Amino acid sequence: MNEALHTPGEPVRIDTPDGPAWVLRRLADVRAASTDPRLSPCPRHAAGGDYRGYDLPPEFRDNIISAEPADHRRVRALVAPLMDRAAANRLAPALRDAARRALAKAGGEFDAVADYAGPYVADAVAGWLGLPPHVREPYLAWAARITGPGWADVRARDTLPGMLAMVRDLAATGAHALLERRDAGRLSSGETSSMLFYLLFVWYEVCVDAIAEALAGGGLDETLAAHAPQVTAFRRFATEDVAIGGTTIRAGQTVLYSLRAASADGPDHIAFGYGPHRCPGEPVARAVIEHGVGAVREAGVKIDTRDSVRTNGLRTDGLRRLRASTVTP
Ligand code: HEM
Repeated sequence: MNEALHTPGEPVRIDTPDGPAWVLRRLADVRAASTDPRLSPCPRHAAGGDYRGYDLPPEFRDNIISAEPADHRRVRALVAPLMDRAAANRLAPALRDAARRALAKAGGEFDAVADYAGPYVADAVAGWLGLPPHVREPYLAWAARITGPGWADVRARDTLPGMLAMVRDLAATGAHALLERRDAGRLSSGETSSMLFYLLFVWYEVCVDAIAEALAGGGLDETLAAHAPQVTAFRRFATEDVAIGGTTIRAGQTVLYSLRAASADGPDHIAFGYGPHRCPGEPVARAVIEHGVGAVREAGVKIDTRDSVRTNGLRTDGLRRLRASTVTP
């Protein structure tokens, strides 16, 4: 499955553990599809036994990824200012501190993923979202399960009850900028809890992967082009039959856009997606990644890619276990 997902080429039909799906793998195909209204992220267009992603609890179903176009535009306009360039600039000092703290704690010989990038990103998210202690503690513990030494035994979907409890606790505090928008009646409570789910849990692993990959070598954009950390964009469903090159996608079938393959197809990468769903968090994401990588480089940490291990997922495929050392021989 991975080779097909990671290599540019004709559309292919793959089998996933949750059903078959089409995969688009050329930059031109992914760009065209990303702006084609006949390929919709709304699950009501799904028909047949194709891959649909896993079932979310009702509190997380009104999410930006699956919204109808008008709702999507409204929610996106409300949340984009929380993660734009100005937000990234405001966050910079806290990120620098979080990266230095994580590095000091990791010290000596350590695993750059489990001991550094994972805890750093979790600390950065907790600070950015202003998590109160009773949410922060379980959140850091959740993150340590996803990117810590036991990662291979954990599927994010199996941690949904814990995610739900954290989002409920956070929504109840009413302390967050998103919630102020909810209280002013601009986001429904379902949209708010779905967005909190997204901000706390959905991008965490992708960001850790981006840092680990950059630490393993290369500049950020080169790394993003060669190893787009979000391997596939969120699933789309064909609202009618759609021809792509010589391939016909039937109405109701699922289409995955391989950002990994399309980015490697150049000349420009689309690791942050393309079109109306392109990542609005890119400025904040870049700041998190750059400070995470910068602290390690400034401290002269040596990275050794021997024995490194990779996850092997449909949506993520990143380094787990990456030897690092601050010790001079
Ligand atoms: C601060 C960190 C991040 C935040 C707050 C964030 C936020 C978001 C949000 C809210 C969306 C949904 C946009 C929409 O549907 O209109 C999104 C989409 C996306 N994000 Fe991010 N993101 C972050 C980090 C990242 C990173 C590190 C990557 C990978 C390099 C990434 C890649 C993407 C992609 C590819 C999509 C579009 C998926 C699609 O078209 O289906 N994001 N992001």
